[in-house]
Amino acid sequence: MTDQHDVFQPDQSIIDNAWVSDWKTLEEKAKADPVAYWEEQARNLEWSKPWDKVLDDSGKPFFKWFTGARTNIVTNAVDRHLNTARRNKLALIWVGENTDEVRTFSYFALNREVEQMANVLKAMGVRKGDVVTIYLPRIPEIFFAMLACAKIGAVHSVVFAGYSSEALNQRIDGSESKVVITADGSWINGKVFPMKQIVDDAVKFSPTVENVIVVRNTKSDVAMDSTRDHWYHELCKLPIAKGKCQTVQVDAEDPLFILYTSGSTGKPKAIVHTHGGYQVGTYTTLRNCFDIKEEDRWWCTADPGWITGHSYLVYGPLLNGATVFMHEGGPTYPYPDGWWQLIEHYGITSFYTAPTAIRTLMRFGEAWVRKHDLSSLRILGSVGEPINPEAWRWFHDVVGNGKCPITDTWWQTETGMFQITTVPAMPLKPGAAGRPVFGQEAAVMDEEGNELPPGQEGFLVLKNPWPSMMRTLYKDPDRYLDTYWKKYPGLYLTGDSARIDEDGYIWIIGRTDDVIKVSGHRIGTAEVESALVSHPAVAEAAAIGLPHEVKGNSIHCTVILAQGYEPSKQLTADLRAHVAEVLSPIAKPDSFDFVEKLPKTRSGKIMRRVLKARALGQDEGDLSTLDD
Ligand code: PRX
Repeated sequence: MTDQHDVFQPDQSIIDNAWVSDWKTLEEKAKADPVAYWEEQARNLEWSKPWDKVLDDSGKPFFKWFTGARTNIVTNAVDRHLNTARRNKLALIWVGENTDEVRTFSYFALNREVEQMANVLKAMGVRKGDVVTIYLPRIPEIFFAMLACAKIGAVHSVVFAGYSSEALNQRIDGSESKVVITADGSWINGKVFPMKQIVDDAVKFSPTVENVIVVRNTKSDVAMDSTRDHWYHELCKLPIAKGKCQTVQVDAEDPLFILYTSGSTGKPKAIVHTHGGYQVGTYTTLRNCFDIKEEDRWWCTADPGWITGHSYLVYGPLLNGATVFMHEGGPTYPYPDGWWQLIEHYGITSFYTAPTAIRTLMRFGEAWVRKHDLSSLRILGSVGEPINPEAWRWFHDVVGNGKCPITDTWWQTETGMFQITTVPAMPLKPGAAGRPVFGQEAAVMDEEGNELPPGQEGFLVLKNPWPSMMRTLYKDPDRYLDTYWKKYPGLYLTGDSARIDEDGYIWIIGRTDDVIKVSGHRIGTAEVESALVSHPAVAEAAAIGLPHEVKGNSIHCTVILAQGYEPSKQLTADLRAHVAEVLSPIAKPDSFDFVEKLPKTRSGKIMRRVLKARALGQDEGDLSTLDD
């Protein structure tokens, strides 16, 4: 690639070999008739009954896709490969945090594992439509569990393995799960994270949980309740686990999973995705934007507990028949070249990670990368937050050796699939996410509902429905309408601010609501605040995001202490530990201010803008609405 004023032009060989070479024509064609475009894509997958209608918008914004069709995402992600030569190729290569531990599964073997887990779930009484909570680390069983649920028409609700018992309890109760699948523990930088213990605390007060399946992973001692808890490897020895298990054909609009994510209130939102549209969206976008091929070894470093893991670690690559690589460990343990070592050793071709990981690894210097032969790489990807041009260049020049396009993908838990990104044949601009995916159109709006011209910053909206869009919020359709469709009727409100340049490339600026992206994780300020006020020392708290060199944003809290408490180093440490314990270590505040009073409007709303200005030592701006 050659650098021309910050625009990287792809090499002709990349363009020639890509699934999508003539992107301009395809973009125009899809723009002219998005529904026809999506119908064409859907024909690449198997349906046991075809659709009556591609898009049913009669109840919009409760859009439906491929209505009348019967399918199952597992039919397309696993079963259909078994009738081809692909049955003997590797579906999954797994490497533990201890990299001597390796497990591999062909598509044939993956199917056997999924059938076994599905048989166990059926024997426990899990039926179509039931929600199963999955609280597992990055181990192969998380693939089996998700696919097993889908196979029998059950709905999975994966909870990120770093959430605490309170957060897990809230999510189990919200979904009324009868079964929870977990592990004894997980490895984090050489130490055991006690997952089973967290589940025990979480289900103590859950009226619905009847069975807990425990996968042996760390081999640590755990308490087992003989009436409720079952070792998975013991269950697998029973006759109930044996034999074939048919993939149930479901309605295209039947739910596949719910996934909790943070919003502007303390109560997390349960996003609902369905079998039919979701499979079309994830299959198509991975194929187009990462040019994924049969012979690729695809590594997405995201945890399966987030949407990126769902769409592009588990479902997308399997739908495309690729080989998925999954690693239990993080980027710097035990040394900061662990990931580069794995890329070299396993011949990874496509590497999809987050800016925060890139920035972390960048700080250790090029030498750690240069020690390894990364010539197998042909494409790189970024997700979760804006990638700053400096990190982009390092990723491109050092990791990709100047030859791999970087696909920066902007999307959300709600969107299920990429929305703003590039395909490898497009010119790239470091720091810009790219263009709306084929079939999508985006705009930037002002407060009053006017579309803004290129260059101006405003609220980012999406104009067209897309197959893998969330269908609703689980048991909360009103919040779905209010959050996403009320501000600008007919347009999907993303919650991000952005600007569009003259070439139609979109530059994401950040969230406009009370959500902070910390190391790419989505954290609601209200969740942090409610964790803080549950500590006896805290009378009132306000959390905001501040710019952070590595994490993108850090969490800064302004706290009013309860009577009898004084600020101290110890108290600060206690409050950080408290948030980690009741919410998650990923939500630990970075800094605190202790004050007598919070700046509020006359109607009692905290003025976060003022807190931010104070923390950054900037001008506080217009204070006319401040209560005194
Ligand atoms: O603010 C945007 C940011 O992450 C938000 C969505 O978070 P979540 O639902 O956790 O999904 C993350 C992974 C898909 C968005 O509203 N975001 C995500 N990707 C990017 C991004 N910001 C800038 N560039 C991106 N590539």
